[in-house]
Amino acid sequence: MTPLTQPADVEAMIADLALSAESSADAYLASARATLLKILARPDLLDRTRLVAPPEGLGRNLLFGTRAISVWAMVWSPGAVTPVHDHHCSCCFGLLSGSLRETWYRPISDTHAVATLDAVRVPGYVACMMPTGPNLHRIANAGPDTAISIHVYGYDHREQASSIHRTYEVAPG
Ligand SMILES: [Fe+2]
Repeated sequence: MTPLTQPADVEAMIADLALSAESSADAYLASARATLLKILARPDLLDRTRLVAPPEGLGRNLLFGTRAISVWAMVWSPGAVTPVHDHHCSCCFGLLSGSLRETWYRPISDTHAVATLDAVRVPGYVACMMPTGPNLHRIANAGPDTAISIHVYGYDHREQASSIHRTYEVAPG
């Protein structure tokens, strides 16, 4: 696979992160947050012209993957939205451009959840979470522009299709 990023800079950063994935959860999340902040501060690191960016929905671009983590650039067309979901692994993301609406949910069963919190994320925003919590959310591009986010997940992309553990239907709050 041809890298979508400036190889030397990003590979050094991600290699450090992959190493920290073997340490404690807190140390890993701190490292993931720091790495995402560094990537967001250097937009030149990512060649956006080569990202898969579908006219509708979500384009998923693998930037880097090891047995422990996978790093993706997600391109959100206007109107793109995920299902309400939780994760089977750690999930960290930062917003590079555009805006994304993130809604949080509380599960009321294995299949349904109610909304608890809603926020618009802007460029520079970073969030890191472990799967326990539980942490249910939905992300949508409610704005008029394409949005790009960088995600660091604690899963091996060769073994699993995504970070999603389970999806939920929205129940009235
Ligand atoms: Fe998620």
